[in-house]
Amino acid sequence: MNGEQGRLLLKIEGLGKRYHRRRVLKGINLKLFSGETIIIMGPSGCGKSTLVRCINRLTEPDEGRIFFDGLEVTGLPVSQLAIVRRKIGFVFQQFNLIQRLNVLENVSFALRLYGQSKNEAEERGIKALSRVGLKSKAFNHPGELSGGEQQRVGIARALALEPRLMLWDEPTAALDPILVGEVLEIMEELVNSKDTTMLVVTHEVGFAHRAANRILLMNQGEIVEEGKPETVFAAPRSEIGEKYKKLLKN
Ligand SMILES: Nc1ncnc2c1ncn2[C@@H]1O[C@H](COP(=O)(O)OP(=O)(O)O)[C@@H](O)[C@H]1O
Ligand SMILES: [Mg+2]
Repeated sequence: MNGEQGRLLLKIEGLGKRYHRRRVLKGINLKLFSGETIIIMGPSGCGKSTLVRCINRLTEPDEGRIFFDGLEVTGLPVSQLAIVRRKIGFVFQQFNLIQRLNVLENVSFALRLYGQSKNEAEERGIKALSRVGLKSKAFNHPGELSGGEQQRVGIARALALEPRLMLWDEPTAALDPILVGEVLEIMEELVNSKDTTMLVVTHEVGFAHRAANRILLMNQGEIVEEGKPETVFAAPRSEIGEKYKKLLKN
């Protein structure tokens, strides 16, 4: 517990994005409170990645405003985006590890970039690797690791920032089914620790049901349903919700 539980951490107002005149986000509103885990689900192409990538402006939104920790992200000049990005950890579907760097270098790279000394950065890197059970692989290269281990390095890289918010974009979608479990297990531990606020895009209904404080269902650039998992999966009001309910039963 960080003593800040329940404080408004992220506010998104009227967020819109177009690609080639097609609206892929149509006025998204969202509030995320400290310590919360929100899980976003929805069919492929509905705008989930675009939404999470707009939060730290990896993707530039066209409309709307985003406030993080009291600061308007959408108002920041590009040169000042690091102020926000160092407080937000991002876990990607495709890991995005740098192959020529070893595991520890991958994990501490951003800290070095943000001005920490080599020693400090490595110390925090080792701590983060311990949390994902990979301290012993610190000096291996990504290519020597399994997909599940590589994603755990991706998680450690985000954790090393000691972020206020963690964004996860389908972190298990690129993994073989037998490797998904080890990554979900770590994610659940992190959720349960409540150290970090989480916004997770995933299709893992079982995980979503157990871990989410709130579920958001998206379809065609809009949030079509929102609620506690026990409500959304038991008595969905949207067509998309019905589909996930069926998945959960299987
Ligand atoms: N860089 C891009 N250029 C053009 N269209 C894009 C780009 N990124 C995403 N899109 C389109 O925007 C829509 C939403 O994409 P995305 O946010 O990736 O969906 P999701 O993550 O839910 O699968 C899709 O139709 C996708 O093809
Ligand atoms: Mg996506």
